[in-house]
Amino acid sequence: MTTRYPPIHPKCPHMLHGGDYNPDQWIRTPEVWDEDMRLMKLSGCNAMSIGIFSWSSLEPQEGQFEFGWLDTIMDKLAAHNAYAVLATPSGSKPAWMSRTYPEIRRVNADGSRQPHGGRHNHCRSSPVYRQKCQTINRKLAERYKDHPALLVWHVSNEYNGGDCHCELCIKWFQEWLRDRYQHDLDRLNHAYWSSFWSHAFPTWEDILPTDKGIHGLMIDWDRFKTHQTIDFFNQEAVPLRELTPGVPVTTNFMNGTTTLDYWAFARAVDVVTWDSYPNWHEHADELGEAVATARMHDQCRTMKAGKPWMLMESVPSIPTRGRVKKRKEPGMHMLSSLQAVAHGSDTVQYFQWRKSRGCMEKFHGAVVDHEGTEKTREFKEVAEVGQALAKLDAVVGTSVQPSVALVQDWENEWAIREGARVYLGENTKYRQDCDSHYRPFWSMGVPVDVIDQTGDLDRYKLVTLPLSYMLRDGFADRLRAFVERGGTAVMTYWSAVVDESDLCFLGGVPGRGLREVFGVWEEESQSYYPHESVKVAMSKGNALGISGEFKAVDTCSVIHAEGSKVLATYGDQYFAGSPAVTVKTFGKGKAYYLAARMGQDFLTLFYKKLIGDLSIKPVMSTELPKGVTAQLRTDGKTDYLFLQNYNRQPVEVALDTDYTDVLSGKALRGKLTLEHYAVRVMSRPTRK
Ligand code: GLA
Ligand code: ZN
Repeated sequence: MTTRYPPIHPKCPHMLHGGDYNPDQWIRTPEVWDEDMRLMKLSGCNAMSIGIFSWSSLEPQEGQFEFGWLDTIMDKLAAHNAYAVLATPSGSKPAWMSRTYPEIRRVNADGSRQPHGGRHNHCRSSPVYRQKCQTINRKLAERYKDHPALLVWHVSNEYNGGDCHCELCIKWFQEWLRDRYQHDLDRLNHAYWSSFWSHAFPTWEDILPTDKGIHGLMIDWDRFKTHQTIDFFNQEAVPLRELTPGVPVTTNFMNGTTTLDYWAFARAVDVVTWDSYPNWHEHADELGEAVATARMHDQCRTMKAGKPWMLMESVPSIPTRGRVKKRKEPGMHMLSSLQAVAHGSDTVQYFQWRKSRGCMEKFHGAVVDHEGTEKTREFKEVAEVGQALAKLDAVVGTSVQPSVALVQDWENEWAIREGARVYLGENTKYRQDCDSHYRPFWSMGVPVDVIDQTGDLDRYKLVTLPLSYMLRDGFADRLRAFVERGGTAVMTYWSAVVDESDLCFLGGVPGRGLREVFGVWEEESQSYYPHESVKVAMSKGNALGISGEFKAVDTCSVIHAEGSKVLATYGDQYFAGSPAVTVKTFGKGKAYYLAARMGQDFLTLFYKKLIGDLSIKPVMSTELPKGVTAQLRTDGKTDYLFLQNYNRQPVEVALDTDYTDVLSGKALRGKLTLEHYAVRVMSRPTRK
């Protein structure tokens, strides 16, 4: 039963709209602050992230605190019925601190200490830095705990899991390893297979995260950095949680990066947030970006079991990163903003509110340009989003409960980087595989949860596991039980190969008993060059009801059916005639194995058949044109559908029932023309 979640803070039962605001850069011209307030109102912005990089303005010299400017801004926001997503400043350290306490600066693998400068580069172990953070965070919490503008704590900025090789970090890593391996060095040496190249560790102190030949060690280093980063976040949060227990505490994730396990991190925050920067208009069509972004948005919602999340940063027009910097074309800003809302965000926030005059990001997209008025296209488009969000109060707190889950696991991704790449080379395209298996559902308008291997499988009818090279402890048993009880699982080539230490399973792939569940033995895998492909022919009368021939690319595995039914076979190569797609009935469920990287054409038909068999309903019962998706949010009484057209031309969509256009209030029935990059929010009574 879907219910409505409370808003991010009870103070504000509306969609949040705003962005990173750096008033401290304009301290010499306070008249700009008044203009900011006027423009915020005009653009429909009600939530500003402030103080993210403000340490040198808040504490210009050690122990000399200056909160006057922040008091003024907090008061101004409150006076304009706007809120502060108030940051702690640890993302960037002031120069006096780097000078007085050099130990807060990270140490490189060669032992050299990094110079002052940049950002996101403090040592996470440093007791001084931790103490300095706690002091300033406590001061912020004490000062603003009862301030009407305080809405959310934005702790630090984009923690990145970067390396620090200082003595303290290394010592902590070694301690962490002792705990993980129960103080048994032999256990660790076995897990690392360290007699290879004579790398066995005679003492704990000999273990350094620089031995890149030991894959298990490098994966543990990633695990440790995740642990250390969460620990750092938690200590930053101590004074905030103590003094403002009702204010949610969060930090902004970067789902597109691989450095931290955000599943572990999500447990530590009160609300999940992320910074989304797709490269729109880069490719022949927008679908790749739309699908990858939708998948990451879904992941944010799934991380708190359906609870709405925050789009903490996005760009109103032009990003600083990317090879070629293309502006969002007209329409794309509304579409991409409501895309986040469609997948469960209760906010649309930007980097940045006003362009800085100098330094790295002076040309990065912003609501307010150097020109300084409301006359720019960027500003007007942001204001349109503001108007739309103001009409979406009823959507706040609503969610969706998908029957389909895609397993995308950060630890598996680290293992692929370390281990699988050695064998399959650059063909280990994990995220692309996740996208290809997600895309058919997106195209059909079937909601998907994106879980990791620690996720609860029993909420779903269908679980898909692209390239699950590493099996985390306990996962194989849970997957087996899921299928046994009636679930449907889809696994691909080169899955269940290694354990958590990147130690290969003995006794054949897929390992840990999954060979029996899927009824296949994967004997060997082949990598192919980009110009090559392999034919896959559907077997006559196969249970999928799919006929004809398809292409596999990049990777094909030679498998043997062991009690599974062959649905398709390879059409050429030395293994022609051997199985490429199989299914086994196991217990009450079904286990499908795709032995090769299949193209989108096959996956589309394949998943369409599966959702039909499992009675999983798309959110709209009429077919959607290519490049269009429909996503659902519901409170159990009213369904809100977000119909989105990523095509560069208009399309017609046949509506399956009568809807109300939530933004215009008009009735919608019959055929709807969606202009290019158009998005509609449509409501109907909940479909049982
Ligand atoms: C990140 C950071 C911001 C800013 C933007 C630019 O997401 O958090 O401070 O640098 O990138 O795109
Ligand atoms: Zn360190």
